[in-house]
Amino acid sequence: MKIKSICCIGAGYVGGPTMSVIAQKNPHIKVTVVDVNKERIAAWNDEDLSRLPIFEPGLDGVVDQARGRNLFFSTEVDEAIDESDMIFISVNTPTKTYGAGKGMAADLQFVELCARQIARVATSDKIVVEKSTLPVKTAEAIKDILDNTGNGIHFEILSNPEFLAEGTAIQDLHHPDRVLIGGEPTDSGQKAVEALAEIYASWVPKDQIITTNLWSSELSKLTANAFLAQRVSSINALTELCEKTGANIDEVANAIGTDSRIGSKFLKASVGFGGSCFQKDILNLVYICKSLGLNESADYWEQVILMNNHQRTRFANKIVKSLYGTVADKKITFFGWAFKKDTNDTRESAAIYIADKLIEEHAQVAAYDPKVSELQMQSDLNYLNTRSESENAQYLTSYHDPYQAAHGAHALAIITEWDEFKTYDWTLIYQNMNKPAFIFDGRNLLDKTKMQAIGFNYVGIGQ
Ligand code: UDX
Ligand code: ADP
Repeated sequence: MKIKSICCIGAGYVGGPTMSVIAQKNPHIKVTVVDVNKERIAAWNDEDLSRLPIFEPGLDGVVDQARGRNLFFSTEVDEAIDESDMIFISVNTPTKTYGAGKGMAADLQFVELCARQIARVATSDKIVVEKSTLPVKTAEAIKDILDNTGNGIHFEILSNPEFLAEGTAIQDLHHPDRVLIGGEPTDSGQKAVEALAEIYASWVPKDQIITTNLWSSELSKLTANAFLAQRVSSINALTELCEKTGANIDEVANAIGTDSRIGSKFLKASVGFGGSCFQKDILNLVYICKSLGLNESADYWEQVILMNNHQRTRFANKIVKSLYGTVADKKITFFGWAFKKDTNDTRESAAIYIADKLIEEHAQVAAYDPKVSELQMQSDLNYLNTRSESENAQYLTSYHDPYQAAHGAHALAIITEWDEFKTYDWTLIYQNMNKPAFIFDGRNLLDKTKMQAIGFNYVGIGQ
């Protein structure tokens, strides 16, 4: 079966870049990305490519090449569903904030709504692809809805989890380590798998396209994220020990990373991992284990999250303790608010939790991030619901200029590892800060010796 037309529901961090690359590499396939969010779609259609709703290096070039040729962004969801052979579901699946599984299970209401919409609208056979990360066996639920509420047409369900990381999405999509496609073992299931594999084969070598059954594919995505997050928590779990013993975590990471069995990636100590996936997916895994009575497995994975929470709290506490036990009315400047460099995404960023803890101590938090707006920072903090919006606005100020942000501060906290921070005039920053001037480097980004020579009290992670 040759696919001529694709629709993707959800124009977010996953759907937008993924579909842009699929369209770029398959000029013969019409790709329509739809979303209920009108502003988001308008931004995807903006003539000025610097105003795309997502900042991702290289994305503008890909969109420029394909948009209007065979890549379209639209709010006409029904129309796009009906005219396509293959529909990707790429909507958000946040952790549930209510009811059973609150704080742990994935909230599948948006996925279910999509399935119901597809069933209502579709008048010809469709292949429905799960792109969002979903708990194991979600495909079964989707199929149930499609088969029981649809117009009697045939639906084939595939799982095709996305492994791209934000900040390197285009690079990851162009050169994936692998593409994973899960499908049913039936004839029509395997034909659907082949149809999707063919789309990827336009640029991905065939031997890097792995096919499995549906459940293995769904579980592999959760497992991959759980393993990656576990590595970050494992290295972070040693930072406190390094600080107490005089070992240096970066030296330890380097020494163990040269063992080819361990590998050098994902061993960078930090203020704690953030992002929309790690915490959500592990909580999801924990919830699935618990609901099957697998309490030891659940506890094991939950510890990855507990360690991450501890790392954020420890960082905030260290700032307070170093500043003589009080930060009340002191200006503490954050360099970075995004959960990692090269993205404007702030979901689950350590910055939010650390700011919240410092504000509890009545600190004046001043934040600068090259890609995050003041509105976003305020809404991140408000989302925690710790205090009123007006109180948050009193305690958190955002700056467009890093030097202004640091002016008069008692301490600087490096939260995100943006490259530009390394190029700043640190002597000038030092001169304009309150003395003694502290740097809490949550990413071990700056050169400790150089900072100390300027006069800073430099406090890194795990050293
Ligand atoms: C992750 C997975 O990498 C990706 O495959 C999946 O599709 C989605 O989730 P992402 O969340 O975009 O991607 O970013 P990632 O690079 O994995 O970083 C996650 C968090 O871990 C960031 O906050 C990052 O700063 C932190 N991290 C990562 C560390 O603290 N140390 C490291 O060594 C690596
Ligand atoms: P991700 O990081 O998984 O891509 P995002 O939150 O960035 O998540 O994007 C998900 C997008 O899906 C949002 O823009 C949201 O408006 C959209 N969305 C959610 N439900 C629907 C729906 N039923 N129809 C169309 N779009 C939807």
